[in-house]
Amino acid sequence: MWPHTFSLAALLILVCVHVACSAEHSNSRPELLVVTVATKENDGFRQFKRSTEKYGLDLKVFGMGIEWRGGTMETIGGGHKVNLLKENLEAYKNKDNLLIMFVDSYDLIFTDGKDAILDKFAKFDSRVVFAAEDTIWPDKSLEKKYPQVKENEKRFLNSGGFIGYAREIYEMVSYQALGDQEDDQLYYTQIFLNRALRHEWKMKLDTRAEIFQNLNFALGEVVIKYKGSYSYLYNIRTGTSPIAVHGNGPVKPEFYRISNYLADGWTTSTGCQTCNDDLLDLTDVKDADMPTVVIAMFVEMATPFLREFFDRVTKLDYPKDKIDIYLHYSVDYHSKDVKKFLEDIEGLYPSTRVISPSDNVGEQMARNWAIEECIKKNCQYLLTLESVAQITNPTLLRDLIIQNRSIIAPLLKRPGKLWSNFWGALNRDGYYARSEDYMDIVEYTKVGLWNVPFVASVLLIQGQRLPLLRDAYTNNPDLDADMSFCEKARQEVLFMYVSNRKYWGHLVYADGFDTSHLHNELFDIFNNRLDWESRYIHENYSTSLQEDVKIEMPCPDVYWFPIVSDTFCDEFVAELENYGQWSGGKNEDPRLAGGYENVPTVDIHMNQVGLEKQWLHFLGEFVRPLQEKVFTGYFHDPPNAIMNFIVRYRPDEQPLLRPHHDASTYTINIALNRPGIDFQGGGCRFVRYNCSITAPKKGWMFMHPGRLTHYHEGLRTTEGTRYIMISFVDP
Ligand SMILES: *[C@@H]1O[C@H](CO)[C@@H](O)[C@H](O)[C@H]1NC(C)=O
Ligand SMILES: *[C@@H]1O[C@H](CO)[C@@H](O)[C@H](O)[C@H]1NC(C)=O
Ligand SMILES: *[C@@H]1O[C@H](CO)[C@@H](O)[C@H](O)[C@H]1NC(C)=O
Repeated sequence: MWPHTFSLAALLILVCVHVACSAEHSNSRPELLVVTVATKENDGFRQFKRSTEKYGLDLKVFGMGIEWRGGTMETIGGGHKVNLLKENLEAYKNKDNLLIMFVDSYDLIFTDGKDAILDKFAKFDSRVVFAAEDTIWPDKSLEKKYPQVKENEKRFLNSGGFIGYAREIYEMVSYQALGDQEDDQLYYTQIFLNRALRHEWKMKLDTRAEIFQNLNFALGEVVIKYKGSYSYLYNIRTGTSPIAVHGNGPVKPEFYRISNYLADGWTTSTGCQTCNDDLLDLTDVKDADMPTVVIAMFVEMATPFLREFFDRVTKLDYPKDKIDIYLHYSVDYHSKDVKKFLEDIEGLYPSTRVISPSDNVGEQMARNWAIEECIKKNCQYLLTLESVAQITNPTLLRDLIIQNRSIIAPLLKRPGKLWSNFWGALNRDGYYARSEDYMDIVEYTKVGLWNVPFVASVLLIQGQRLPLLRDAYTNNPDLDADMSFCEKARQEVLFMYVSNRKYWGHLVYADGFDTSHLHNELFDIFNNRLDWESRYIHENYSTSLQEDVKIEMPCPDVYWFPIVSDTFCDEFVAELENYGQWSGGKNEDPRLAGGYENVPTVDIHMNQVGLEKQWLHFLGEFVRPLQEKVFTGYFHDPPNAIMNFIVRYRPDEQPLLRPHHDASTYTINIALNRPGIDFQGGGCRFVRYNCSITAPKKGWMFMHPGRLTHYHEGLRTTEGTRYIMISFVDP
């Protein structure tokens, strides 16, 4: 075969030399100018523009800054677009070798550049090619006038994109007078359906989505594909890879979701490639030059762990004199927490504005006012925070600011759950729908910045965008405040990003939070385990579980562990004192199954205060692992305990407890206050070993076998009150 191939190649070279192939070729290859009409520079436009820059496309924008007179894009209108083209394209009408490509811009993205466009256009053998779609709009009666197409092809003209030679394009847009309010799509449709004009201008429709892909009614036919660091859209119905992807009609959220990936935004092999675009650099900015921020907090329902919420706001790594505080709370329940917070921050921030329940200001109004407050203060950023958002990573504010997006939220979710602060998609009524990539994002399988239709709980909004968002929270009074806000942002084509590039915190579960107790969080171990743990478990708890750590053993087979925090001890004692129904320390005890207690104490059982379930859970989650470490080979999961009670020793009440065995496999005993300070005396003596623990440590637990070996007594408390918490585990 060699000689044959060789001769073919030689022939080609010959031909090329003869007609000056390469030079000729580049002469005949047209130039390409992309044009669009945009009156506002919103985020949709910026995304569009970025894609033209990425692919090196020449772009001319007409109408920027003028008042749009073409109606809303959702209804008939758009004649203004045609008129702006007419006005601006005249200058190009005599350029023979120039292709003009018109596209919409707020909802369109390019996925490739000039060469690909020219190649595809050349195949049409046409002077003007229009985008096409499956539905006819706005005049359905014109359907029968349309040429037939093959089954997998699109039959009807869409005016969101067309490409053609400058002369024909100009003739087309100036063919007839058109009112600004009249419909551009109808205008072009009538031209296309006019057989004479169609032939004269060699007009065709892009029925196979070679160049233009309209997504309305077509989401099911496209998939995102990757090739190394490249991403593109593939149409499985037509087998093409369209270049101008248009989120026409009501599919904007889906379009923006797809746009997260297109133009190589995110690919499987490289992850997010646009995440570091436009990054602000704050590294060398002095505190005094940092941007100003209004932090607006909203406490609209009784929220567990609000103290921690406030605390974490004050811990944000950001100069406080650049932050103004705004707080709206609408539940009296939190008055004390708010008061404490205000005391804590006194003098730390330049200004603090609090709107309390007595001001009778609803959530929506309070949120609108926060926007006004920020505008009035000429702030550079507004950070809105709902009370359910626990920001555990203090770099949050800086991280979000440097991302330089109009609106950005950190991904927050309920720990271990799929419930988060964003929606990947909307259903027809504008409420939650799960997007294809929702799971990947909440589970951090895909990491990046995600343009989504709804975010809540924590939002950083650029001050310069706020004037567009005035009254956003009441924009649609039929919706919740945050839904109304997001709808407004979508209307203004301001993108809302959720970022999962880092872990910044989580959401607490506040629904149905029971506030009937003194310290309600004590009861909240099931719904908010993470926060419960961080408030109530001793900070060195997990040290005991490390492999090489030796556990203290103050008496034979009596082990000692840090287990609960000071806060736990204080709130727990206060809660039980608040309940107040201490037993009389008599042998007769109606709370017990047999009605008789051999070694009675002055106590309160957990089931009396509604803490039994929580306590058993605590035993299983926190005590059992310690037991398994020191008494190896004994497994009982979950541990069982019928007797869980707090004991009170006082000189004038019950000062001590005579020697006894416990009805347990093992017993735990947690010291809830401090010897030598809160009380004198006290302690526990193990008779068999003549070994006493007289200096129990608050928040520490000791654990010992129950029957047989560890006969023990409670030593006399001589002053003050001593509290301990006891469980007889696995009786
Ligand atoms: C921040 O984003 C805007 C677009 O919204 C862009 O014009 C600007 O250049 C960006 N800043 C930096 C430092 O990249
Ligand atoms: C935890 O352990 C560290 C190191 O031993 C100690 O400094 C700290 O005080 C302990 N925390 C508490 C609450 O006891
Ligand atoms: C028990 O210990 C105490 C002090 O540690 C000691 O004074 C006492 O004599 C011991 N009793 C017995 C019976 O060994």
